[in-house]
Amino acid sequence: MHIGFMIQDWEQVDPSKNSTILIIRECLKRGHKVSILYPENLTVHNNIAHGLLQVIEPLEKIPDSIIQFYKKVTFKKVLTPLHALDSFMIRKDPPIDPIIYNFLDSIKNECIIINDIDGIRKANNKLYTTTFNDPGNSFLPKTYVSKNKSFIRQMIDEMPGDKVILKPLVGSGGHGVIVLEKNAQSNINSILDFYISGQGDSNYIIIQEYIEGAENGDVRVLMLNGKFLGAYNRKPPEGDIRANIQIGGTAHKYKMTDSQLAVCRKIGPRLAGDGLFFVGVDMIGDKILEVNVLNPGGISNINKLDKVKLHLKIVDFIEEKVDEKHEKRAELEYLLKRLSDLKQNDF
Ligand SMILES: Nc1ncnc2c1ncn2[C@@H]1O[C@H](COP(=O)(O)OP(=O)(O)O)[C@@H](O)[C@H]1O
Ligand SMILES: [Mg+2]
Repeated sequence: MHIGFMIQDWEQVDPSKNSTILIIRECLKRGHKVSILYPENLTVHNNIAHGLLQVIEPLEKIPDSIIQFYKKVTFKKVLTPLHALDSFMIRKDPPIDPIIYNFLDSIKNECIIINDIDGIRKANNKLYTTTFNDPGNSFLPKTYVSKNKSFIRQMIDEMPGDKVILKPLVGSGGHGVIVLEKNAQSNINSILDFYISGQGDSNYIIIQEYIEGAENGDVRVLMLNGKFLGAYNRKPPEGDIRANIQIGGTAHKYKMTDSQLAVCRKIGPRLAGDGLFFVGVDMIGDKILEVNVLNPGGISNINKLDKVKLHLKIVDFIEEKVDEKHEKRAELEYLLKRLSDLKQNDF
């Protein structure tokens, strides 16, 4: 099968930390054709969505060392209709230009896209958790979203505890996530002005209860096809409340609690149903902070900490989904043929 990967920049990949390269090598090991595609190389030729794919040229032997593998890979540029791909994995960090989804719309029914683009459209920011039903806050922290300053100030006052979290609705990598002390609000108006309209636009912000235990970091939970895949703990760097790896958070081994696994089981069917096959759920205790649906990281950290090979499970999943699709198509073609034979016999 032919599997495509949308990535940011091959030249910038650090093979010792990158998860996508592990998946790519495994696909090649299993005899699949693999291509990478940069967003700017999407194109339309005579009304058909194409990509200037960089097809990985066959390697005589696939090195076991991931660094050697990275060095050995060479590409051949081939302009290819996107429907030639059996599966396509978006492994580019957010933010992502939404026009990319329109290029993929024409193939979304034939190609296994991870994640399904309609699912990403639904879940591409932190409002997605509002589609989970949890009136008693058993797994969602108290969360308010608004761009109305007086409403926000009221919500800050009403929130339990002596501090709250403020963060942009659209954001990642910990950018703009801050703690507000409720008894030190002399800067609050300026902060809200900055977050809501500081860049000229009018932006929504999130006010969220500060979750107890956050000092010990959060848990990145990877889920595949609605099921728990693996997890690790990220501890914030000295002097910060944010545990994101990009800003210096450190990776630690973690064993999920029964109640955390129960939360995963609760949301799993929804995720899979929305085509969100591979996601990273950020949790503190039993509470979900967000569901990351674009390029969730963590495979290589969990692999190292738990001595597992999660990337094999990702490739197993791609193969299963593509086989399932091929079988369904063959069945449909057979039925259509039977139907046309029957029609011909009528005359
Ligand atoms: N409600 C909260 N209580 C305590 N810490 C939080 C809370 N929300 C976020 N954090 C900290 O900030 C980090 C980033 O927040 P998150 O909501 O995951 O946004 P991002 O998309 O930027 O990763 C989390 O990993 C956690 O360490
Ligand atoms: Mg996060």
